[in-house]
Amino acid sequence: MLCCPRCRRGSLAPQSAGWLCDACSSGYPVIGGIPWLFADPRQALGEWRGRLGLLNQHLASEASAMRAEAAGPGITPATRRRLEHVAQAHDDQARRLGALLAPFGETQGSQATHQGLGTRLPTEQGLTNYYVNLHRDWAWGGEENAAALAELAAALGGGVGGLGRTLVHGAGAGRLAYDLHQAGDAPLTVATDFNPLLLAVAREMFAGRTLELYEFPIAPRGLEDHAVLRRLHSPGPARAGLELVAADALHAPFADGVFDTVVTPWFVDIIGEPFARVAARVNLALKPGGRWINTGSLAFSRAAHADRIGLDEVRELAPAAGFAEFTVREATLPYMRSPASRHSRLENVVTWVTRKTGPAAETPRERVLPRWLLEPHLPVPRTPAIEMRAISSRVHAFLLAMINGERSMREMAKMLVDQRLMPADEAEAQVRIFLLRLHEETESQ
Ligand SMILES: C[S@@+](CC[C@H](N)C(=O)[O-])C[C@H]1O[C@@H](n2cnc3c(N)ncnc32)[C@H](O)[C@@H]1O
Repeated sequence: MLCCPRCRRGSLAPQSAGWLCDACSSGYPVIGGIPWLFADPRQALGEWRGRLGLLNQHLASEASAMRAEAAGPGITPATRRRLEHVAQAHDDQARRLGALLAPFGETQGSQATHQGLGTRLPTEQGLTNYYVNLHRDWAWGGEENAAALAELAAALGGGVGGLGRTLVHGAGAGRLAYDLHQAGDAPLTVATDFNPLLLAVAREMFAGRTLELYEFPIAPRGLEDHAVLRRLHSPGPARAGLELVAADALHAPFADGVFDTVVTPWFVDIIGEPFARVAARVNLALKPGGRWINTGSLAFSRAAHADRIGLDEVRELAPAAGFAEFTVREATLPYMRSPASRHSRLENVVTWVTRKTGPAAETPRERVLPRWLLEPHLPVPRTPAIEMRAISSRVHAFLLAMINGERSMREMAKMLVDQRLMPADEAEAQVRIFLLRLHEETESQ
């Protein structure tokens, strides 16, 4: 069922060191027991390692900031206790994450270089983006998970049997995939995601092991709730046939038409592609007559305006993506209700089941990279967009270099004018805007 995510021509065969494409000979490692099937496995590993390094750095700097504040003047005893408790939890969490993610290896190079090169953290694809999901999945008790499974069962007409070979895209920490597999009779359920932290937790839970990690609630109820050491555990080891794969859904490592069911839980609105293309990708993975089960939100608020679709437009777009026979349910359900937090959400969850009736009108393309990015010996073209970026980076670097602990905004503005980088009537205001943004960014980090 596996297909090379790089060339998409060959199938993958297991070797002692991992998986190998029988057409282009690309190799894919198994890391921490999970097949690492990214089109460029080394790059993906480097990026996630970078994010782990940034997360560790963040945990350490937060802990030392808390300790410094605890030692400062005017701190009341309860505040000091809270700061010391959370600081200690940050240190302990770093150790726990280090142990869990040890198979992924250490970060190479400095954190500053990583940040400069654009390893995206924390707003996009950070290791802890969906961190709270793993506590919901495996620590808070079953209420939300049971409600999610019940919605799927209801949309399927009363049960989750007969799903056949099932693919769960963006499975996160894996609870829904686990519950579907355990409650149903699928011979194979493949849970995929690209986040190694969530995958590592899913691996432990599927094996029936326990794990302890901290939860840091948004609105803690009491002092101890600012950092709660949670015991994550599953109801028991999964039955045979529940598999984990680390992969990017935009370069999915599966052969076309091999799944009876594709499940997309809380996924279609975060993948970052127009809905029609996501639907066409789901179509490609399905056998003729296969079913697509979607559940979650339709929150496309960051997409292009035309792509911020609702349920009516889903129905309109589905036929061209090769789907018909829609069963839709909408239910208002509690979402991320941590027992330690005053904060929780109610979500109007949309669940649909639809059937593949034919191929999609347009085959989704892989994200095609230019040749100079694939072949290291080719010259890198200086496009107008890169030229623009180079100029703004020069100005940026110049401004940062001017900050020496002595110069005022006025003096910096004068230097910009002297260097002919900015007219005199704009310079002071622009320097202030730049420094204000820098202040806000560094404070928020
Ligand atoms: C909103 S979360 C939902 C997680 C899980 N389904 C749940 O309901 O708890 C979206 C998930 O999709 C994953 N994801 C986002 N983009 C992805 C991509 N291109 N390939 C694979 N996984 C992706 C994220 O890591 C995250 O686990």
